[in-house]
Amino acid sequence: MTQLPAAQQQTAQPAQGALKPSGSGRALYGGKSTRRITVRDLAAAKERGEKWPMLTAYDALTASVFDEAGIPVMLVGDSAGNCHLGYETTVPVTLDEMTMLAAAVVRGTSRALIVGDLPFGSYQEGPVQALRSATRLVKEAGVGAVKLEGGERSHRQIELLVESGIPVMAHIGLTPQSVNAMGYRVQGRGEEAAAQLLRDAKAVQDAGAFAVVLELVPAELAAEVTRVLHIPTVGIGAGAETDAQVLVWTDMLGLTGGRVPKFVKQYVNLREVMGGAVKAFAEEVVGGTFPRDEHSVH
Ligand code: KIV
Repeated sequence: MTQLPAAQQQTAQPAQGALKPSGSGRALYGGKSTRRITVRDLAAAKERGEKWPMLTAYDALTASVFDEAGIPVMLVGDSAGNCHLGYETTVPVTLDEMTMLAAAVVRGTSRALIVGDLPFGSYQEGPVQALRSATRLVKEAGVGAVKLEGGERSHRQIELLVESGIPVMAHIGLTPQSVNAMGYRVQGRGEEAAAQLLRDAKAVQDAGAFAVVLELVPAELAAEVTRVLHIPTVGIGAGAETDAQVLVWTDMLGLTGGRVPKFVKQYVNLREVMGGAVKAFAEEVVGGTFPRDEHSVH
């Protein structure tokens, strides 16, 4: 039976303020630190010019694999909607669902900074609603930070969360919660759109965000945002120059069925591996070759 790390016993991460930042030589990926990564470690990495990987995670077992592999930051993304919960988009995902998934990921990990996504409808009403929702993710799930979508339009929410002691990762460019309004299209193409993306990036930094996701924006524009900002940029479909890269784990490990976006690199085809193993099991059961004596008790 698969063993989960002892950290599964934990229900909350240590307070951010109780930890010393990593010094140089404490790489985020491959570093020796066994304590939780903090947002201050990410700031130090930006100063060192160190790039880092981020993956989504939605359950304790998968998260424990990524934690053991040294992934320093995991996002319990509302992509759980399409990648884990069977919805067509992220729009229907609820705060209750996100809280349950985030709590599982925190229990399955001991080193990664866990970022919990605020789902659609849980922060758009204003800063107070955002604080109430983020507080649930921090207190009930034990995440070390939250993420929300929007640039200038979300700056008041970010300000109140940061003032209240909750680190915020922002998300601009393509924002999937707005799919009904914007579709899934490249953002920031053309002079005016590029200028707006830069304004959004500066707005979230000024509001106190510790990092910003840039989704599906031209590589050259993402590079410029990365040069201009002092907080880390996390790219997805945003070229090679961002400080960090994030992928949805079911896409990069080949579990997602059907087409995946152009920016996804599939490192393995888990769908094929799992399908093959499941068929082998089924055929052995039908053919009477499983279980054999070594899988039986007497
Ligand atoms: O929900 C999610 O997985 C995300 C990433 C694509 C950044 O927002």
